[in-house]
Amino acid sequence: WVAVLDFGSQLTQLIARRVREHKVYCEIVPHDTPADELRRRNPKGLILSGGPASVLDEGSPSCDPALFDLGIPVLGICYGMQLTSRLLGGTVEPGRKREYGKAIMTIDHPDALFQGLAPDLQVWMSHGDKVDTPPEGFRPMAHSDNCSVAAMMHPERRIFGLQFHPEVVHTPQGAEMLWNFCFRICGCRGEWEMSAFIEAATEAIRERVGDHHVICGLSGGVDSSVTATLVHRAIGDRLHCVFVDNGLLRYREAAEVEDLFRDVLGVDLHTAHTAPQFLERLEGVIDPEQKRKIIGRTFIEVFAERARALGPVRFLAQGTLYPDVIESVSPVGGPSATIKSHHNVGGLPEDLEFDLVEPLRELFKDEVRLVGRELGLPSYVVDRQPFPGPGLAVRILGAVDEERLDILREADLRVREEIMKMENYLDVWQYFAVLLPVQSVGVMGDDRTYENVIAVRAVQSLDGMTADWYKLPHDVLDRISNRIINEVRGVNRVVYDISSKPPSTIEWE
Ligand code: XMP
Repeated sequence: WVAVLDFGSQLTQLIARRVREHKVYCEIVPHDTPADELRRRNPKGLILSGGPASVLDEGSPSCDPALFDLGIPVLGICYGMQLTSRLLGGTVEPGRKREYGKAIMTIDHPDALFQGLAPDLQVWMSHGDKVDTPPEGFRPMAHSDNCSVAAMMHPERRIFGLQFHPEVVHTPQGAEMLWNFCFRICGCRGEWEMSAFIEAATEAIRERVGDHHVICGLSGGVDSSVTATLVHRAIGDRLHCVFVDNGLLRYREAAEVEDLFRDVLGVDLHTAHTAPQFLERLEGVIDPEQKRKIIGRTFIEVFAERARALGPVRFLAQGTLYPDVIESVSPVGGPSATIKSHHNVGGLPEDLEFDLVEPLRELFKDEVRLVGRELGLPSYVVDRQPFPGPGLAVRILGAVDEERLDILREADLRVREEIMKMENYLDVWQYFAVLLPVQSVGVMGDDRTYENVIAVRAVQSLDGMTADWYKLPHDVLDRISNRIINEVRGVNRVVYDISSKPPSTIEWE
């Protein structure tokens, strides 16, 4: 495997991912991990990530200099290169101006990292400082207009530095360079599969948890489902899942979660049937933010109550992913597990202190889906579209009650059924129905009707931060509209939302 030492760059995660894409296991470790610990864990190579600090500043993050004597190849990227230079006796020139963006780099020595690449290639730069004179024994390998040492290498010690970022797509040959590093230089073999991750994660969970018990909040979403399945695989009956049925879920959703996890997978699942409690507190509430707060608070209360009822439990399993972790990683301090626990389950009471089990914290969403698939979870779980924590409450504009929930559930089911008939429905990031707080006039037979309006929302997105409204084929829209109006009592009009984010949001509330 290959270890990435994290100096706080937003791109550290991408390095790990690129290496894993070459089927080499890669894990991110704190930048101050002692050399002895790494020797014990026996990686085949080390990558020092980039970072926001300047190596010239007092107290900037460093690493154990003995890392360079472990006898394994080291690759420093950006800050990692500057740090390598500084620790080994080279000089780093303070940045007078930042170089940011695409640059053309000329390779002077087309070997090692650059074997097989074109002599001039595009790279992505993002740095202020740069290496001026490499340490003794190093030779410059490439240059660009702004950077006389864009890459350097110590051939005998197999230590490398890249001033640019090979991990981003704007360095089109970056993946090749990382391949060269892992395969040619470190001698990795590319045998790692998700199944190996599952084995390692299972072992790690067993080791961490020992004889203790673990509690896990299961929502039926991808992350919590995969987490629960993985922890269950590791410790079986000592995992206790709590599923909060708040009455704001989609058609048959609660039953599906119970069926899969309790009946098929045999997980110890405790459902909290708390719809009345949630609905009572939501009665007459119209303001979206207030709805969210009420639901969030009630969720914590219910979860805490169930957790206490299970008796003293030492560990809490959470489906934290890398993108969730990144915010809590400070460049110098490293990941802060405790802060995250409260952040993620949003303020559990103090008497419920847990140690955390977060088996997915190295992974990206699509990697989690791969793990889920490998664990044998069905497509309706691993390919599930995102669903907001406050559930259907934020898709009923205005006050939420049982009757309106029923109308929305029925309409939403038809939206989903019709879109899932499309061959490429997995391209649609999210699709659902929204119940509007207006009534409109219609005609049915000879009678005038005055009923509800359903808005259909379907969007394309990569991460939910931005989104385009999805150009659903007219015949699909037609079927959705006909089915809702004919089959759902209380609806006589369907409209299609053609707004993108920004300036709109995906959800209506
Ligand atoms: P918006 O509406 O902000 O949604 O464009 C972006 C993505 O986030 C989901 N979403 C939520 N997820 N709790 C969640 O767990 C929430 O309160 C929440 N609000 C929105 C939304 O479904 C979309 O995928």
